[in-house]
Amino acid sequence: MNRVELQDRLKGALVLAPLTKGGNLPFRRLCVDFGADVTFSEMAYARKLAKGDRKERALLRRHDSEECFGVQIAAKQPAEAIEAAKIIEDSGADFIDINCGCPIDDTTRRGLGAALLRRPKQIAKLVEALTSASTLPITVKIRTGWKNDAINAHEVAALVEESGAAALTVHGRSKQQRYTKAADWNLIKEIAEARKIPVIGNGDILTHYETQHHFKEHSISAVMLARGALTKPWIFEEIKESQARPLSASERIAIYFRFSEYLKQHFGADELGCSRIMRFLPWHLSLFARYTHYRYEDFVPNAETPLIHQRRGETVEPSPVDLLLGLSDECTHEAIARALLSSGDPQLAFEEIERLALQPALAPTYRAKPSSLLAMG
Ligand SMILES: Cc1cc2nc3c(=O)[nH]c(=O)nc-3n(C[C@H](O)[C@H](O)[C@H](O)COP(=O)(O)O)c2cc1C
Repeated sequence: MNRVELQDRLKGALVLAPLTKGGNLPFRRLCVDFGADVTFSEMAYARKLAKGDRKERALLRRHDSEECFGVQIAAKQPAEAIEAAKIIEDSGADFIDINCGCPIDDTTRRGLGAALLRRPKQIAKLVEALTSASTLPITVKIRTGWKNDAINAHEVAALVEESGAAALTVHGRSKQQRYTKAADWNLIKEIAEARKIPVIGNGDILTHYETQHHFKEHSISAVMLARGALTKPWIFEEIKESQARPLSASERIAIYFRFSEYLKQHFGADELGCSRIMRFLPWHLSLFARYTHYRYEDFVPNAETPLIHQRRGETVEPSPVDLLLGLSDECTHEAIARALLSSGDPQLAFEEIERLALQPALAPTYRAKPSSLLAMG
């Protein structure tokens, strides 16, 4: 895919965010089923890719259904980024994204991720080096700045564009902010209006009406979803159909079952494969457990507290299965994961999970807290 093709692809696109651990191939495949137009790999360290690290190289695998797939790298030195870019090109990706937003200490301590926001010229050098060395379009994902009192997204965005990047994602929060406070969509809008390259807006989207609002009001080319997709992978379909789909417990279990099948196809259905799946599936179930149906009536455009920071929506008279699916404890997630993996079809999976929900042995878990989106990240 060349630069112009990627830019065309981004017009009005629904983008699945790069998600360490969450953005594994089976999960991306599930999101594509529901309408994700563009997908990203989990963040891969350029240095490890260049050294031939097998685990890192495994992150470059894409599923056939992913029509527009970018590999995100954490890099600091142009030389290592170029080495990694060659490997990414050979792997068949459509574009390369530079991570300038990861807030995790282990990454920033090495001068990678959000730490690059303190050295905008280094970002420009990386983009220039990669655009001249690689045939693939280069994109960049940034936050608004390193600290709340050092917001420099305008400056970084201008340098990114001048250095030849094909597109830019802005996550509307500083590194210091983590997930506190609403993403700054006004700043995202200003950047989108100041730049010629497509700007992908990112932050706090959980519903189709928030998405429409951002497209209408904030001058962006595309939206990127992270926690919205992790809790509700069918959000892409809701956005495309402009309507919420409050799913019953059995419909949700059918989707989780499909995901467990994709995991089996990817990791293997044998003992080894299932033990690898158990590192992912219960974790995903802990995120699915945070799913809640928000009501349009509670949506206040440009509110200081977006829906994601508001009280959970409530299911009227939840069934025992609804309650079980919403619990936050690991034992429950593991039990549901095992039920999904051992059932031959979605109906059997539902029956097995219903049996778990009615089991007196699991009753103490009902005292566990329901999951909350606020705690995420
Ligand atoms: C579990 C998890 C893993 C993430 N991993 C990455 C990553 O590897 N690279 C990246 O640029 N951002 C990563 N992010 C940040 C998201 O891509 C996104 O910018 C952020 O969550 C804001 O979007 P949201 O409000 O839709 O969640 C991660 C977020 C979560 C929740």
